[in-house]
Amino acid sequence: MTKFLKRLLKDVLLDSEISNVFSSFDIIGDIAIIKIPDSLLHKKKIIGETLLLHIPNLKSIFLQNTAVDGEYRLRGLELIAGENKYVTTYKEYGCKFFVNVASSYFSPRLSTERLRISNLVSANETIVNMFAGVGTFSIIIAKKTPVLIYNIDSNLDAYILSKINSKLNKVEDSIISINGDAQDILSSQMFIQKADRILMPLPEKAFEFIDTSVDCLKPGGGYLHFFSHIKSDIKSKVIGDSENYVHSLFSNYDYQIKHTQIVRDVGPRIYQTVTDIFLKK
Ligand SMILES: C[S@@+](CC[C@H](N)C(=O)[O-])C[C@H]1O[C@@H](n2cnc3c(N)ncnc32)[C@H](O)[C@@H]1O
Repeated sequence: MTKFLKRLLKDVLLDSEISNVFSSFDIIGDIAIIKIPDSLLHKKKIIGETLLLHIPNLKSIFLQNTAVDGEYRLRGLELIAGENKYVTTYKEYGCKFFVNVASSYFSPRLSTERLRISNLVSANETIVNMFAGVGTFSIIIAKKTPVLIYNIDSNLDAYILSKINSKLNKVEDSIISINGDAQDILSSQMFIQKADRILMPLPEKAFEFIDTSVDCLKPGGGYLHFFSHIKSDIKSKVIGDSENYVHSLFSNYDYQIKHTQIVRDVGPRIYQTVTDIFLKK
């Protein structure tokens, strides 16, 4: 996408400016979200108009003007070209999702990870998705395999969209969406020792939910998909650093690390990783 973006902007930016264009941008349905360095902000309109003109089916181009932030993991958006609308439909692995890019978290960059985890699930598992967003992981899993998934998010908008998306993809009988804080909800007796598998896709804070998630695993144990942010100058050290981090957090438990991988880069020398852990009880 980087080269493609740079080629598109060749006619409207100087060569020296093109090298400053941020490395990538997200396309979510008919909406594109781009980061533009401060030095080029005076050209944001022409950048937006160029993308709108050349990329088929795009209706809105937003500048991302803040980092993803806050409990709901939202980013600041400013319209730079096209229609002022936040809602779009995004397709992934045969599923359709209504997304509101302003009011709930969504990233197309997790799509490979969503597929990977969905391929690990066996029939009839009970799964908890602690930080479900608009329901993406849960719906992709439920579409492939008969399971029961508790789909939790504290953001009301994400919860509403996840309910709509479950229906849209005809998996509403497999997914129970719940709006609220995962810590509060999962402390309820009804979740204790119920889960075969728990997804923890909140890298900034997943470590705060370890004891709660362990309580929810079945007596025979189960899988945790634990997301982290790892800072490292050397990419080849990230997996080892990530596993050391997991060892430091889970030292009170009997567990095995089954797999760790980098999900994506999230900043200069910062990586999002996921570790699949089998925890015995
Ligand atoms: C990184 S996003 C999840 C992304 C999602 N799994 C996906 O594939 O699009 C994290 C989500 O966790 C939610 N969240 C943050 N703190 C929470 C909490 N304490 N309990 C439940 N949900 C929470 C946010 O609202 C946000 O939607």
